[in-house]
Amino acid sequence: MTIDAQILVALRSAQSSSVSGAELATQLQMSRAAIWARIEELRSLGYEIEASPHEGYRLIKCPDLLHADDLLARLGGLQKIGRDIRVFRETTSTNDSTERLARDGVAEGVVVFAESQTKGRGRLGRRWSSPAGKGLWFSILLRPKISPQAVTQITIASAVSLRRAIKNVTGLTPEIKWPNDLLLNGLKIAGILTELSSEPDAIKHVILGIGVDVNLTSEDFPEELRTVATSLRIVARRQFDRAALAVEILREFERDYQLLHTDRFEELANEWANACTTLGKIVTIELADRSLHGRVEALDQDGALLLRTEYGRLERILGGIVHSHPD
Ligand code: BTN
Repeated sequence: MTIDAQILVALRSAQSSSVSGAELATQLQMSRAAIWARIEELRSLGYEIEASPHEGYRLIKCPDLLHADDLLARLGGLQKIGRDIRVFRETTSTNDSTERLARDGVAEGVVVFAESQTKGRGRLGRRWSSPAGKGLWFSILLRPKISPQAVTQITIASAVSLRRAIKNVTGLTPEIKWPNDLLLNGLKIAGILTELSSEPDAIKHVILGIGVDVNLTSEDFPEELRTVATSLRIVARRQFDRAALAVEILREFERDYQLLHTDRFEELANEWANACTTLGKIVTIELADRSLHGRVEALDQDGALLLRTEYGRLERILGGIVHSHPD
C-alpha cells in the first residue's frame, strides 16, 4: 500500500477522532515533516483534513473523485479483486486500458477506473455514454480457471454482485434483465461488457467492464437515452459516494468470483434467477443473423438462456438483445 493509502487508512479508522502526527510518523516510519507534506498533497486533491497542533489530523470530507490510494485504503488490501487499482482522468475505454495490461502480463485482479471515457462501449457495438465524474466506469482483469464455454458465468456473477452492492449502498433493489442489464423502474442503470481472450480450450483472460450511472442528471444523458436509461441519483433523489459504491462492488464480486471457482455457481444462478425479470417472460431475442420469439424457461449451468421458441424448440442463447412482451 502506498504512503497516502496508509495515511487514509489511519485517518479513516480513527473515524471522527484525530490521529497525531507523531503517531503517524512512527507508524509509517517517516518524519513528521514528510507526513505533513503528504497531508498537503491529499488536501490539494480535495481531501478536507483538519490539522491541529495539539490533536493531530482529522479526516473531515473526501472529494468526489476516484483516487487509487483511497480505494485501496477502503478495500484494506485483503482481496484479490482490486489488489492493484489504476485511475485515469480520461481514457478511450477502460476495457482497452485493461486489455493492454493483460497483454503486458499483469496479474488478475487489477481494476482500471476512468473518470470519463471518450469511446466507452456497450454490448453489440453500442456506444456507452460516460460523462466525467458522474458514474463508475471501470474494468477488472480476470484470469479465471474455467472453460471458455462457461464465461457467461462471470457475467452472471458480476450482475448479482453489482445488484447486491447497489442494494447495500443505496437501498434500491435493481432487477436484472438477461444477461447483463440492471434496471430500476424499467430503466437501465448499469451494464456489463465481458470481453474474452481465449484459445480453443482455455481462457487467456477476461476483461469485465462495468458501467454504473450513479450521479447523472437527466441532462447528462444523451437525448436518445433519456427514455431508456436512468441513474441512482434520479431514482433516489440524492447523490451517492461513488468511491463507497465502487469498493462495495469489488468486495461483493470478490466473494462471487471465489464461488465460481469452488463449483458453487448454482448459488449465484439461483440468486440471479430470483432477480431476473426475463425468466418466464415472452420475449423476442435479436441475434446477429435472426430473431427468435418464445418464452424464457431457464438458465443453464453455463449461464446461457434457454428459450422455448414459438415452434416448441429449446434454443440455447448466449448473446443478443432481449425485448420483453406482456404475457
Ligand atoms: C452494456 O450494457 O451494453 C455494457 C456496458 C458496459 C460499459 C462499461 S463502462 C466501463 C467499461 N468500458 C467500456 O468501454 N465499457 C464498459
